[in-house]
Amino acid sequence: MKALLMTLALTMGMNAMAQDIQLPKADMKQKSMSVVQALNTRHSVREYSSRELNNQELSNLCWAACGVTRDADHRTAPTAMNKKEIRLYVFNKKAVYEYQPVSNKLKHITNGDHRNLVAGGKGFKQDFVMQAPVSLVMVIDFERFGSQNEQAQMMGCVDAGNVSENINLYCQAVGLCTVPRATMDVEGIRKLLSLSSKQLPILNNPVGYPKK
Ligand SMILES: Cc1cc2nc3c(=O)[nH]c(=O)nc-3n(C[C@H](O)[C@H](O)[C@H](O)COP(=O)(O)O)c2cc1C
Repeated sequence: MKALLMTLALTMGMNAMAQDIQLPKADMKQKSMSVVQALNTRHSVREYSSRELNNQELSNLCWAACGVTRDADHRTAPTAMNKKEIRLYVFNKKAVYEYQPVSNKLKHITNGDHRNLVAGGKGFKQDFVMQAPVSLVMVIDFERFGSQNEQAQMMGCVDAGNVSENINLYCQAVGLCTVPRATMDVEGIRKLLSLSSKQLPILNNPVGYPKK
């Protein structure tokens, strides 16, 4: 009985911590370099300072990746047939969230630091990922195509690339740094996020401030 009560209290405590985050509106007037300058200077960075991103910075970053633009139906990154099949997950030191573009929320998925899964699997790991305060993981949701055939796989990869490049250019433009990566523990992430066989982690971008 005592053990049962303790488990209940623990679960309730964990649920209380498990909170979605309502992000502030993305800042449309933030200081940034021009697209041409960002294109000309963008480069992959694999060393980060320990400076965290606040919620405004997170909001701006997620919006740049695949946020809502002219109406709830359109995003900063184009997708084939406007299927919007790229899900964006945010991994930080404390928890994992899914970005919800329309409500501008981070939906809580699970507690804990799971950035090691983004760093890589047993065979190959890139530990520098653990330095970055945030990792953005792109997942193709084939349910939205209604198919997982070769065409859908190609479109999903292209669309994830669009989201990743938005992140690359945005980071460069505002003084953050990142690297697009295919390396990650795909099966570990699938399990952690309770993804189905129709949802595939495909790319990730660790993001932080440059190391001084
Ligand atoms: C699809 C894709 C997958 C990549 N995967 C990794 C990766 O797993 N690890 C890594 O350190 N860099 C990865 N990169 C980064 C490339 O190595 C990098 O973009 C390339 O060397 C060019 O350097 P630059 O981005 O500085 O121009 C990847 C890039 C792309 C586009």
